[in-house]
Amino acid sequence: MEKDIRKLFDLPNYVDRDKADANILKEVYNRMGNNYPYHHPLYAGQMIKPPHPVARKAYELALQVNPNNHALDGGIESSAMEKEAVAELAEMVGFKQHLGHLTGGGTMANLEALWVASKVHPGKKIVGSEQAHYTHSRITEVLKIPYSSIEVDSLGRMNMENLEMHLIAGDVGTIVATLGTTSAGAIDPLEDILRLAKKYNTRVHIDSAYGGYYRIAGRLTPYAKKQYGLVQEADSIVIDPHKHGMQPYGCGCILFKNPEVGKYYSHDSPYTYFTSGDLHLGEISLECSRPGAAAVALWATQKQFPLIAKGEFAQRLDDSLQAANELYMMLKMSDKFITFFQPELDIVLWAPRGERASAISDASAMLFDACTDQDVHLALYKYPISMLPEHLQSIEKDQDYLVCLRSCLMKPEHKYWVKFIFSVMDELLEF
Ligand SMILES: Cc1ncc(COP(=O)(O)O)c(C=O)c1O
Repeated sequence: MEKDIRKLFDLPNYVDRDKADANILKEVYNRMGNNYPYHHPLYAGQMIKPPHPVARKAYELALQVNPNNHALDGGIESSAMEKEAVAELAEMVGFKQHLGHLTGGGTMANLEALWVASKVHPGKKIVGSEQAHYTHSRITEVLKIPYSSIEVDSLGRMNMENLEMHLIAGDVGTIVATLGTTSAGAIDPLEDILRLAKKYNTRVHIDSAYGGYYRIAGRLTPYAKKQYGLVQEADSIVIDPHKHGMQPYGCGCILFKNPEVGKYYSHDSPYTYFTSGDLHLGEISLECSRPGAAAVALWATQKQFPLIAKGEFAQRLDDSLQAANELYMMLKMSDKFITFFQPELDIVLWAPRGERASAISDASAMLFDACTDQDVHLALYKYPISMLPEHLQSIEKDQDYLVCLRSCLMKPEHKYWVKFIFSVMDELLEF
């Protein structure tokens, strides 16, 4: 069946004969210039990481045929590559067997996990921490599953006493543990969650859309290492290759430990599934059409950067951890800033020093704007007052949140730039 890719284009085809309008492309080029410099280390704001060249090139090559990984009818090799790439992710998290596939992103992947959870424990509640991604409560609304939030401690981690209070009621079917919260990269205490899940017979779903790859990092704190060492005990895990995995949007991944959950997806498609008796990915996915190019790009990236501890990819994650730790230490040592807690992953939160929550919030917003003017791009976050750690209790709580600065140091190059980023902020606060 192997063919020269050029042969696929020998047939007359409108698309090949047509020329793209250069003026339209020029406008696209110009409009794309109206963006923040996401690829540059001075972009240190939101969770945005440039796709690696191997991912971009593999994606573009695959786009020449534009396979659809719904069925083998739509993408023979890209479907095989998806299964191989997903198996490598499953191996990374320590699943001995698995069922999984790529999705449009973390939200879709979590939706599948919670949908399966609701099939396994029909009518039962799903709980996640107050710092779980906002889409969990929305997904459960769509799926019509009851959902409750569990309190967090001052490190942004799920509070075990509050979790147990919910579990005692006996109506919880699934606990969502976040390994790498969106706001601060906090890591829920998976060890304790697994223990309580066993006691109260609930499922555990790990949302590590952001933090999943850190399982293979070397510079984790002992606490983080311990939690990451247990992820294979969960029932399902979400990891987003389009966050830390150097992939273009949209590329999420859902992994189930028990392949038997495939039975919940059972459906027939009167239009597809004819060309092969082998498993079509659409048979184990809620989405129908999905980009084969995303699978090809991920496959190629993982060939160049195997998902192994001490490998080049793991080293890049360590570089991000180093960047975050160095920025945190500079902020902590300075008398101009407050810090909240030491980062577990590569997200740092801080704010200019102040006496009232409202004044600190205003100063954060001003510093954010001033940094943007200097081409240093950060993010802002509404830090809940209830999460303020002990050492910041003297701050006057005149509002229920405090706007702080937030930086996702996802690019390994950030480790060479954090000193500069800090010095810009430090100088700006002279005035
Ligand atoms: C922990 C976590 N879960 C889920 C999501 C949602 O992922 P996506 O934006 O790919 O849908 C995010 C996004 O930031 C996230 O950080």
